[in-house]
Amino acid sequence: MRKLAAGNWKMNGMTASIAEARAVRVANPTPKVDILLCPPATLLTRMAEALANSPIALGAQDCHPEASGAHTGDIAAGMVAEAGASAVIVGHSERRTDHGETDALVKAKAEAAIAAGLVAIVCIGETLEEREAGKTLDIVHGQLSGSLPAGATGGNTVIAYEPVWAIGTGKVATPDQIAEVHAALRTKLGELMDGAAEVRILYGGSVKAANAGEIFAIADVDGALVGGASLTADDFNPIIAALEAAG
Ligand code: PGA
Repeated sequence: MRKLAAGNWKMNGMTASIAEARAVRVANPTPKVDILLCPPATLLTRMAEALANSPIALGAQDCHPEASGAHTGDIAAGMVAEAGASAVIVGHSERRTDHGETDALVKAKAEAAIAAGLVAIVCIGETLEEREAGKTLDIVHGQLSGSLPAGATGGNTVIAYEPVWAIGTGKVATPDQIAEVHAALRTKLGELMDGAAEVRILYGGSVKAANAGEIFAIADVDGALVGGASLTADDFNPIIAALEAAG
């Protein structure tokens, strides 16, 4: 399977940031891995123009489960696709926390994404409290079972394991912690669907150039979902290079 370096810009990025996407494009004319940038929705169309005919793909950070309707402020998966994206992040922990998103809602969003022809990047991960209580695997198994879209395949679904306590904190999970969860997720995916070996499982949470090589050497880590270190090409390009080097 091709590995995936995905950048999640979160609520960051104005017009000037399109230059960062261009710099990622220039540095990666023929990448050995898939590269995805997920800017705020306001930049999707202009970034699609900036990245046209390049190997750099675009994603959104959320979508609504319905195709259209009276949902002020929301964006449908079909709109995301029309804006030039080929993927969408669903169920990020910040949305689960800030907007009370449940596994059932995340699953519905992922199914809407797939129906619109997008790749759904389904995020799961435990809080520090849950980890300290020894519940990590129960939590991520529950989130995976509850959020996995019907009809998931390696082509339309990506799982991102992001321990909540490692997101934006500079605290990266240890290789043993990552290895344990990714192996458990691969096994659980095998119980939930056919073709589980083809589904990419990304790690996310304070991934940087300095720790990327160590993380990408772990079995069943098929790439990364990168927040802060995806905002500039200078930070993101070395992470892409580390993923390519991991083979
Ligand atoms: P971070 O965010 O790399 O800034 O920790 C990762 C994410 O939330 O996707």
